[in-house]
Amino acid sequence: MFEKINSLLAEISSFSAKGNEELELFRLKFLSKKGLIPELFEEFRNIPGADKKEIGQKLNILKQAAQEKYNILKTGIHTADYSFSAEDLTRPAFPWMLGSRHPISIIRNEIIDIFTRIGFTVSEGPEIEDDNHVFTKLNFAPEHPARDMQDTFYISKISPEDSNPGDILLRTHTSSVQVRVMENQKPPIRTISPGRVFRNEAISARAHCIFHQVEGLYIDENVSFADLRQTLFYYAREMFGKDTKIRLRPSYFPFTEPSAEMDISCSICGGKGCNVCKFTGWLEVLGCGMVHPAVLEASNIDSHKYTGFAFGMGIERPAMLKYQVNDLRLYFENDIRFLEQFRTAF
Ligand code: PHE
Repeated sequence: MFEKINSLLAEISSFSAKGNEELELFRLKFLSKKGLIPELFEEFRNIPGADKKEIGQKLNILKQAAQEKYNILKTGIHTADYSFSAEDLTRPAFPWMLGSRHPISIIRNEIIDIFTRIGFTVSEGPEIEDDNHVFTKLNFAPEHPARDMQDTFYISKISPEDSNPGDILLRTHTSSVQVRVMENQKPPIRTISPGRVFRNEAISARAHCIFHQVEGLYIDENVSFADLRQTLFYYAREMFGKDTKIRLRPSYFPFTEPSAEMDISCSICGGKGCNVCKFTGWLEVLGCGMVHPAVLEASNIDSHKYTGFAFGMGIERPAMLKYQVNDLRLYFENDIRFLEQFRTAF
């Protein structure tokens, strides 16, 4: 019996199955009720007492070995079953869709990067604002046309005819964030405020009722127009390339005096003249100026001690230039065929 067990042990340990059928034959031969091992246990009853202990132990080892072998082969054969399609190793991997940043976010981050490099902080504020922060404290006269229903989306207008500091509206520019910064911080202030703004305009390839801005504010002692110009020149070269030229044209904003609009040499044709710059060689990119003393005083900043400059620009414009996408609406439709083209950018 001892020898028989030993030879079965050897057979079991060298056994391997190529498939389920062979494994089943193994089970029938050794483990099933009429198999060799139960048969041996049957014989074991008649073994004389002196040998019982040793043979009993050996028999248990045999039974365990057969059971273990069976279990191992069973799981091994199962995972190697190529007829089960989920485990077809030649199948292409599941196509995980990789997301990408929205082009407007890419350009916004680039602008933020450029200004934070020279010490500007980033400030944010509410999109739903009051008249006070969007207009009154920025020196808009009560009858200023920008307050008109044509431009501003009002959420609740307290008096239908007159402007009222309590009116609630969607901000038309992020200058409102700068008012909040001036209310809450003491100079020196050096901050930019990126964000979404809203104006009641008809949607077309060149205009939208929602767009994005980055506005900047710098208030300290002795801030001059030369500082403004140099800061914007630095921005233009970083954003549009080191050969970019700028020019400032006189303009008007209620909250700055003097005010200017800045053009850059056309980044498409390099200033020679093309469709994009309408053959002028220049592109208008932002508004700017020295903060009006009335604006400083409205937020309790001493306008005799401090001066400052401010500027504001749309994000869609540089995005259109950079990616040469000339229909603004594409930035708002979230068509995946458009968005996935920006996958390599950050
Ligand atoms: N707030 C202005 C706009 O929305 C831009 C601007 C900001 C102009 C700061 C001058 C100074 O058009």
